[in-house]
Amino acid sequence: MKRTMRLSLMGLLGWFFAGSVSLTHAYPNGPLWYVTDIGPYCAGCHASTSTKQIPEHPKEFAEQWTIEKKHFADIQKAQAYQDLSPDQKDQLIAAIKEVDAHAAITLDAPSSVKAGQQFAVTVTTQGGAGPVIGVALVDNDLRFQSRPIASTGFLIKAPPKIFGPDGKQQKKWNEMRYNKLDGNINFAIVFGVGADLKNKTFDSTKVQWTLRAPVDPGTYTMAAVFFYGTEKASPLGTVEQLGRKMPKGGFLAHSGRIMFSKVHTITVR
Ligand code: HEC
Repeated sequence: MKRTMRLSLMGLLGWFFAGSVSLTHAYPNGPLWYVTDIGPYCAGCHASTSTKQIPEHPKEFAEQWTIEKKHFADIQKAQAYQDLSPDQKDQLIAAIKEVDAHAAITLDAPSSVKAGQQFAVTVTTQGGAGPVIGVALVDNDLRFQSRPIASTGFLIKAPPKIFGPDGKQQKKWNEMRYNKLDGNINFAIVFGVGADLKNKTFDSTKVQWTLRAPVDPGTYTMAAVFFYGTEKASPLGTVEQLGRKMPKGGFLAHSGRIMFSKVHTITVR
């Protein structure tokens, strides 16, 4: 009996420590353990910035993933926001709308390349509450069906070059690849991103990929996907947990976003 109790106590402690370890790596503040190729489907908690990301499903389904339905409905109803007054909820929603209004992602790439040619793709972001934002290079702008860019034949030739809001190159994400694995992945986390709602300044970042065009001539598409958070830009949307800032809605909330760049068409000759 005693032994079982001690065992379960140890189990509980284990759970607690595992919990705190995973907190330091939790999704809000960036999924820092997926140092690999990813697709936007992984961000199941995030709200979509447009229903156009989900054209393959009925409108009613797509609408369930919007900021209004996923996130703002929560702020009105969910337990995590219960201690905010109706006024504070409105203020929080207004602050988040500012963050979303200032978020943007663009992709620059040539419109035509030779088969097998090496070329650069530059992705620029603006906004996100920080402390990090994420960017991935994919083949289209479908939340549930886009693929890592290499799936359509564009080989990623080198680790992404990541430039923070200060314009300096950051190696931190590249160095997180384990044991000298190749760093040529389609996903990048940019550190040190912030938003200043009072002065309406929102940080910009840049990620550059070097790709090799497919061997088969044809018409291809690519897009960049932007993963960002919103709540931590506002004091009303921020709580301290184990000494770090967490979104008010918590880990499972819908304050994260999925936004796509315009789809870029590229002819391989
Ligand atoms: C369990 C729910 C959940 C899942 C699954 C999830 N996220 Fe998030 N993520 C969040 C929340 C909540 C935030 C928003 C934090 C905020 O509003 O400040 C967030 C924010 C982010 C941020 C910005 C960091 C920040 O703190 O603002 C990035 C980057 C991100 N997520 C990427 C991803 C990627 C990539 C995946 C898939 C591998 C993913 N997330 C899956 C909940 C999740």
